[in-house]
Amino acid sequence: MIKFVVQPVKHLSGVLKVPGDKSISHRSIMLGSLAEGITEVSGFLQGEDALATLEAFQKMGVKIQRNGDRVTIYGVGLHGLKQPNAPLNLGNSGTSMRLMLGILAAQDFDSELIGDVSLSKRPMGRVIDPLTKMGAVIEGNNGKPPLKVRGAQLLTAIHYDLPVASAQVKSCVLLAGLYAKGETCVNEPKTTRDHTERMLNGFGYPVNTTNKKMCLTGGGALTATKIQVPSDISSAAFFMVAACIAPQADITLTGVNINPTRTGVIDILQLMGGNLVLSNEREIGGELLADIRIQSSGLKGINIPKHLIPLAIDEFPAIFIAAACAQGETILTGAKELRVKESDRIQVMADGLNILGIANEVLEDGIKIQGGTFLKPSGVIESHHDHRISMSFAIASLRCEHTVEINGVDNVKTSFPNFVELANSAGMRITEV
Ligand code: S3P
Repeated sequence: MIKFVVQPVKHLSGVLKVPGDKSISHRSIMLGSLAEGITEVSGFLQGEDALATLEAFQKMGVKIQRNGDRVTIYGVGLHGLKQPNAPLNLGNSGTSMRLMLGILAAQDFDSELIGDVSLSKRPMGRVIDPLTKMGAVIEGNNGKPPLKVRGAQLLTAIHYDLPVASAQVKSCVLLAGLYAKGETCVNEPKTTRDHTERMLNGFGYPVNTTNKKMCLTGGGALTATKIQVPSDISSAAFFMVAACIAPQADITLTGVNINPTRTGVIDILQLMGGNLVLSNEREIGGELLADIRIQSSGLKGINIPKHLIPLAIDEFPAIFIAAACAQGETILTGAKELRVKESDRIQVMADGLNILGIANEVLEDGIKIQGGTFLKPSGVIESHHDHRISMSFAIASLRCEHTVEINGVDNVKTSFPNFVELANSAGMRITEV
């Protein structure tokens, strides 16, 4: 297990480009594989999660060549996947497992999906339920991986009201809907990331979206396309918070995806008084991009608006660090989903904040954080195999007077393989031991 040892620094500067978006990278492999023709992807995230998806499709007979962040996928069409000769290991990646279940449930072969310790604890009932309603047969260990998918089932379309605001569940049902007879519709309680809908349209498969309802009709075909993956706003978020809290900072993040279903972190930091300015906004391949300049900011605590929660769902660990450095109290409620991410992000962040002497109160569905000063750590912070916990506490060092140590940071590779290199190039002092 690798540990981060982070020395405090006060300055942060530079023009940085963070790696490709994880959600879009996963989907590029899935839809590229199911398309007819050759799909070329650039800016692909070379992180373990996206690579797990890539390898899984290779094991199902899809020819996929990768040269750094450039990937060529020789699509096999919706019915061209082959039975893998072993269980598909999706590592730490919930997105791979939940989205792929939608595809695998409709194949004419059986398959088995497995994952690491963290993924094996995550709830899959949320996707098994709607898929079962569509006619799929999936056996799990009490709704948790390993999961066995029984093939050769005929799926029928459903109209499904999502019980939780989850882009993964929405995407899973829509992907199964490609194979189902009739029109499949998903109604979401709050807006969630819409990369699946955008990319399906990009592959020439119409998805009709009205308000919070998305519909598609099974039985069509996907046509190969070119995909340029923009930088991941979830990775950029660590540098947004870092630059806001650092005493002297001026950072520009280039080509960041600012899809409106993902920009909650920008809105929340701006509500807290964060000095973030967007420029050079442009559209590439159906996704919006911008450069974002962030300078040191005097943050204040806020009550986080509920509609922003799904739009910033992966950024809360970093936002909690911003809250810890803000003046006054920050309150988050209605965010129970954070408890079933790669770790229980409410409890694990609270434990780490306690080690740094930041007063907080854990709520069933959120947290209250009293902004303050980081004290000499009373121990080593545990990441619980969660990449975003590791990176969040690494950036907290910009307001620390003492060395911070974070245990179990190996999984940073799942989403942001060059985090340490990029952070150190901007002035941070992170060592991996
Ligand atoms: C993702 C959706 C989110 C997010 C995850 C990636 C996706 O999960 O937390 O990291 O790519 O669809 P939920 O949709 O379950 O909230």
